[in-house]
Amino acid sequence: MNRVEAVDKVTGQARYAYEYQGADHEWLDRPAYAYPVQSPVARGHVLAVDAGDALAVPGVLAVLSCMDPPELASRDDAGLALFQTREVTYRGQPVAAVVASTLETARCAAGAVRVDYTSEPHDVRLRADDPGLYAPERVNPALPADTEYGDVEAGLDPKTAAVRVDVTYTTPVLHNNPMEPHAALAAWDPLGRLTVFDSSQGPSADRDTIAEVLGLPKPLVRVISAHVGGGFGSKGTTRPHAILAALAARATGRPVKIALTRQQMFELTGYRTPTIQRLRLGADASGKLTAVAHDVVEQTAIRTEFAEQTAACTRVMYATPAMRTTHRLVRLAVPAPSWMRAPGECPGMYALESAVDELAAAAGLDPVELRIRNEPAAEPESGLPFSSRNLVACMREGARRFGWTDRDPRPGVRREGRWLTGTGVAASTCPARRQPSRATATAENGEFVIRIGAVDIGTGARTALTQIAAEALGVPPGRVRVELGDSDLPQAWLAGGSMGTASWGSAVVGACEDLLKGDDAEGTADTADDVAGDQGWARHSFGAQFAEVRVDADTGEVRVPRLLGVFAVGRIIDQTLARSQFIGGMTMGLGMALMEQTVVDQAQGGFVRRDLAQYHIPACADVQDLDAVWIDEQDPHLNPMGAKGIGEIGIVGTAAAIGNAVWHATGRRVRDLPVTPAKLLG
Ligand code: MOS
Repeated sequence: MNRVEAVDKVTGQARYAYEYQGADHEWLDRPAYAYPVQSPVARGHVLAVDAGDALAVPGVLAVLSCMDPPELASRDDAGLALFQTREVTYRGQPVAAVVASTLETARCAAGAVRVDYTSEPHDVRLRADDPGLYAPERVNPALPADTEYGDVEAGLDPKTAAVRVDVTYTTPVLHNNPMEPHAALAAWDPLGRLTVFDSSQGPSADRDTIAEVLGLPKPLVRVISAHVGGGFGSKGTTRPHAILAALAARATGRPVKIALTRQQMFELTGYRTPTIQRLRLGADASGKLTAVAHDVVEQTAIRTEFAEQTAACTRVMYATPAMRTTHRLVRLAVPAPSWMRAPGECPGMYALESAVDELAAAAGLDPVELRIRNEPAAEPESGLPFSSRNLVACMREGARRFGWTDRDPRPGVRREGRWLTGTGVAASTCPARRQPSRATATAENGEFVIRIGAVDIGTGARTALTQIAAEALGVPPGRVRVELGDSDLPQAWLAGGSMGTASWGSAVVGACEDLLKGDDAEGTADTADDVAGDQGWARHSFGAQFAEVRVDADTGEVRVPRLLGVFAVGRIIDQTLARSQFIGGMTMGLGMALMEQTVVDQAQGGFVRRDLAQYHIPACADVQDLDAVWIDEQDPHLNPMGAKGIGEIGIVGTAAAIGNAVWHATGRRVRDLPVTPAKLLG
């Protein structure tokens, strides 16, 4: 089915947060604009803020600053507790903001705010021997930081393990870079409610956070996110722009708009932590694992802890009699890292699946065969049965489609003119969970209306939920209308964690079934109890990624003529939307493999590459024959649709498959992403 909002989008009718105006609601007339003042020092204190020159600029309405902290009800999230401290803990931290009648005035006046700082030594460099490393209590979302079973050291000992690898992989800071910048318009409506039009992945949760930070009762806050241009996790939690818009509206009595610039997004909206990952694998002569150790070092911020679950994927993947996974963090003078598409699985599977490829080479085994030999009967770390697991089927189907069976395993022996060629494979995985959500279903004027506080961040959620409701009601999709993107609708989970469709769909089906019972004019559902009962099974999606590369022997340029992903993700709700998610994720994985990297400025702190001219993402010319397919997977233990999430798994494993192919082409193992020409030639 075509996207239900397709016409609205291509004709410009669809409203994004920044675009609302007085023509939409009278109380949005004459908005003011806010622009932040950010610290140029990475560590220090603000001594003084002189706003005199800024306030003298015609059109300036107010200057907010840490010298006169606005009143907040909660300072629990340091990233949202704007202007509450004079201490600076990262370069780019907002220390003041200007509100003015035009964006240009606000920006100009922000440059006229004079801030005196003390500058203190800062540390922004992640290293494995940092004395400040510590074990977090939990890693995202609430997993144990460390796990261990069996005798790992014995399993890695040459007496037990005929084949061993002990390798360290590093990944850089990566930024989400959604197409639509973070933006908000905050205004008090005539009834005294704060309404925030926000570019958010979860209006219900965003409303809760804004209410908590500002100290307003939840019913007096409304968040509207009708259309959102991507997020990849960076809009999964409330971001400071939304709080700033609300504070500025409170201070001036005007509606206030703010749109972060692309450069500001690099500092204010999260990023993927860099990682240093040591992988130690042991296997017997037949390639069966004897031990796995995955030890991760990553960073967090001085005032905010975010602990990426980088090694959690290893707990899920392969049968082994002994395993250890650990996470160590260090607090650096950096903005807080956060969610970026497949947090944990994406960097973790890069390292694990690269190491598995190295093990296959060391064992003289085909890497597909090695994985099949280590297929577990149950989830290795927990011992839970899998609700469904079709990694082997994905590997076999991918090998068949890709033409893997004729592959010459020797590295660095194929050459076509200047190009060295090779192929690589890697597995992918993601959790398949769901979260409590509510929905209603009613019959109105010949159509069925579904209401749910879900959000469509470009994935096609409106369309998928329309199809899910139509099936549950037994009517054509054209008779169903889905209302979402508004916190006034029934409370629902985020577009996050690959849990949107599973969470929302469960509630939509429940509401439709309740309506069909015919007892009430409105069908309702709350899935909290159902979700609490989701115990006893290990629920994950799996996939196999195959890559072909060509490496210019003289320049080190890497091209990717072919990428194939085969996924086992339960039931696919809509083929077009699903394919879009998979190939989008794989394209992002291609970027991770070859070009994406935010350079940290050791001298000044902060990030050097802060725009899309310097932070390279794949363009159309970089993507050649890229295909995603899926196998038919029935899983009765998930949700009424039998569907697993698909938003993230496409990025998982892609970088490993490409890196493994680069090794196959050249004989060079680059263990530090991205695989740039300089690293291949060096
Ligand atoms: Mo996604 S990183 O769970 O929004």
